[in-house]
Amino acid sequence: MNGSRIKVAVVPGSFDPLTNGHVDIIERSLEIFDSVVVGVLDNASKQALFSPEERVDFIRKHFEDKKDRLTVHCFSGLLVEFVRSVNSALVVRGLRAISDFDYEAQMSLINRKLDAGVETIFLTAREEHNYVSSSIVKQVALLGGDVSNMVPPEIVTALRDKIPV
Ligand code: PNS
Repeated sequence: MNGSRIKVAVVPGSFDPLTNGHVDIIERSLEIFDSVVVGVLDNASKQALFSPEERVDFIRKHFEDKKDRLTVHCFSGLLVEFVRSVNSALVVRGLRAISDFDYEAQMSLINRKLDAGVETIFLTAREEHNYVSSSIVKQVALLGGDVSNMVPPEIVTALRDKIPV
């Protein structure tokens, strides 16, 4: 990569909902790259708790003070096409435990087959976020458990509003 080029990284995901693990990966991406585009997958076939608009809104509000270098968009279809559409060629994914590796490696290989110019970079999750995933958060919240150490405070409130007691 040419060092003088403006580096735009894409952090894609479902973000249903945003977790502390996602926040960490986005913040660290902002430390490394000139600008970051968060891509929120709008997958009609996947049952989500929050609508794509809600998920985008959560991320925009959380990173309000970084909005000069961070943008958030919904995407559907192929990730590599979304990456190109925002003038990037870089995908950043967080890697938690070893169990993430197979799926993530497969995804990055497929993306490379689809577009050899799109590179995937992995950031290892911080130890304290290793067990956190959106599905675990939803499961715990649906069962009335405390998720306040797994997601930002505004997401705790949104989960409370969404899930009837
Ligand atoms: O947070 P997630 O759900 O693990 O994110 C998965 C995501 C959105 C990165 C992945 O499903 C994706 O890129 N979907 C877009 C469709 C696509 O490009 N598929 C081919 C590569 S697997």
